[in-house]
Amino acid sequence: MSDKPEKFIDENGLRLDGRRVDEIRPMTVEMGVLSRADGSCYLEWGNNKVLAAVYGPRELHPRRLQRPSEALVRYRYNMAAFSVEDRIRPGPSRRSTEISKVSGEAFEPVVMKQFYPGAVIDVFAEVLQADAGTRTAAINAATLALVDAGIPMKGLVASCAVGKVDGQLVLDLNKPEDNYGDADLPIAMTEDGEITLLQMDGNLTADEIAKGIEMARKGCEQIFAIQKEALLSKFGTTDEEELLKEAELQAELATSEDEAEDVEVVSEVVSEVVSEVVSEVVSEVALEGEDDELEDEVDEDLELQDEGEAFTDDEVENASDEAEDLFGEDVSEFDINEGTESEGDSSSEPEDAESNEDEGEKNE
Ligand code: CDP
Repeated sequence: MSDKPEKFIDENGLRLDGRRVDEIRPMTVEMGVLSRADGSCYLEWGNNKVLAAVYGPRELHPRRLQRPSEALVRYRYNMAAFSVEDRIRPGPSRRSTEISKVSGEAFEPVVMKQFYPGAVIDVFAEVLQADAGTRTAAINAATLALVDAGIPMKGLVASCAVGKVDGQLVLDLNKPEDNYGDADLPIAMTEDGEITLLQMDGNLTADEIAKGIEMARKGCEQIFAIQKEALLSKFGTTDEEELLKEAELQAELATSEDEAEDVEVVSEVVSEVVSEVVSEVVSEVALEGEDDELEDEVDEDLELQDEGEAFTDDEVENASDEAEDLFGEDVSEFDINEGTESEGDSSSEPEDAESNEDEGEKNE
């Protein structure tokens, strides 16, 4: 372990490694370095060396972990035992568990998980050599590994840290700055500038944080440029256009899925409206065609009669009067005493009953 330097920035504004405060370390990337992985990327950033591998989308086991409407993105950050001066104990630690969680979340807005329900996309980031900023390096490598695996994404994610040494904000901390500086602010963001990871170690004022974010934004812009260059050199200009077309196609697919859902909703609404209108029309027709209804009710009453539910004498009389009004002489073809009266009656039976009651009440 190195001792704390007396000064981090010299009188010329240069840092210990010769960079200016707003410069990132040199970065190189190579995609598709692992033939067994679906996507991979090897990244060197200063003295950091990181290998990212993506497997999937593939079926997630155990099944109870599956998400019915989207894929699960699992991100595992790991430091190789030999990646630092002191040997790192193999296996997950609190630090690596935390970094894995927040780094996976850094991809949340870009990975189009909805295309792979029930699946898992595994992202492994192995730090082979650590020299400060490994979580940010891992995110930058993982982005390209995801693209290499053909995972549909809305855009890239880039990450870099800002810190404070000698009272000044500096971009992309090196090891002494990270270990002995006053603050460390790792940030990840999308190409749209949406911040997807922000952690802080040490002390910064609100103003410094705001300025630091702007510095990180500039750093991420440089990283996006490096990532895009890597994509171009791997896929070529025409392929890049094809990638864009593919992205548009995927977006269209997503839209048409949404539209299909809309159509379903609309058709439900339409069928509800139609059934309401139909029932209104039916009841109007029923009112207009009172005679038909009356005939139906006569039939019903006849059935009741058959079942032994006899009409009272008053009902029979009322019915016969009304039936005569409605059907004229033909009423004779019904046997009033057998409840034929029901024609007029049955239709008006409840009303009559009510009106009789009303009358009764009035009389009372
Ligand atoms: O690497 P990063 O800046 O994302 O994480 P950190 O926890 O701030 O660690 C800073 C640096 O300390 C690492 O990059 C390593 O070089 C070193 N380190 C170490 O030597 N041993 C550890 N167990 C953890 C970190």
